[in-house]
Amino acid sequence: MDDELGTLQRNALAEIANAHNVIELDQVRVKYLGRSGLISKLSESMRSLSKEDRPRIGKLLNEVRSTLDHSFAEKSEAFAAQQDLAALDDLDETLPATPVRAGALHPLTQLQDQAIRIFRRLGFTMADGPDIETEWHCFDALNTPPNHPARNESDTFYFPDGRLLRTHTSTVQIRTMVADAPPIRVIAPGGAYRRDEMDATHLSQFNQLEGLYVDKNVTVADLKGTLEYFVRELLGPKVETRMRPHFFPFTEPSLEMDVRLPGVNAGKWMELLGCGMVDPAVFERVNQRRGDQAYDPETWTGYAFGMGLDRLAMALFGLPDIRLLIENDQRFLAQFNS
Ligand code: PHE
Repeated sequence: MDDELGTLQRNALAEIANAHNVIELDQVRVKYLGRSGLISKLSESMRSLSKEDRPRIGKLLNEVRSTLDHSFAEKSEAFAAQQDLAALDDLDETLPATPVRAGALHPLTQLQDQAIRIFRRLGFTMADGPDIETEWHCFDALNTPPNHPARNESDTFYFPDGRLLRTHTSTVQIRTMVADAPPIRVIAPGGAYRRDEMDATHLSQFNQLEGLYVDKNVTVADLKGTLEYFVRELLGPKVETRMRPHFFPFTEPSLEMDVRLPGVNAGKWMELLGCGMVDPAVFERVNQRRGDQAYDPETWTGYAFGMGLDRLAMALFGLPDIRLLIENDQRFLAQFNS
């Protein structure tokens, strides 16, 4: 029986080695290790062995079985590896890879970041306030009379509790002054909301960049100098600016600034921002809320401005429709992926 086992193992190993594919290998497996295979048969014939021989032969039989098991596993792994290689056979690694498209900042974000960088160089820091505001922060504190059209339900989104979506970022002027004593030098970019009918030039949400400067002896010359510097830095030396008198309840005097740039907006003037000197009445409201005289109008002066970024982006990027800015069409956005 020893001999028989030895021959069986030798034959089996040779047949495993000679198997050309998975099917042949499986046939060999069934032949030797199958339920009625040669190994099974041999172990049945153990019954005829003497008691002394049985344990030794039994052990031998187990060894042969495990040697064969091992050999089958090895061979079948080799076939699997061969198959993997074959799958890569017709792979052409010189073909260009599927391009990975890198994301980019939204054009409005790019413009806003540029604007912020310029004001930071001038020493302005960032301020912030909530989009959902109280009427007091949005209108009363900004010296806006109760009958002002901006307070109208048809122009402003009100919540049932009387709060509203801020109609401008000027609310951050108030929040900053209520929180901090002068001097103040902040910018506040953010969303603003008005109940406009949506069309090619109107959305109900738009983006503003607010500025507030409070110090002693601030004049219109400071306001004008700062804004002209800003506009030149943002739009280049070819830009022209002009100031027009205007009215805002919270500035006195109030102005609007237009810009004109060759090749932009067909070379026509564009309204860029509203601005003016902080109205002493605003300082008084802030003092009332603070419960002190930190913003004594006899001592402190200031200017504020608020510019719309969406219209500027439209003009600079030559956009025919403002809705392009919120539709997230990849074909549109990919053009700003620089
Ligand atoms: N809040 C004004 C607007 O939305 C702009 C503005 C800001 C004007 C600050 C003067 C000072 O039109």
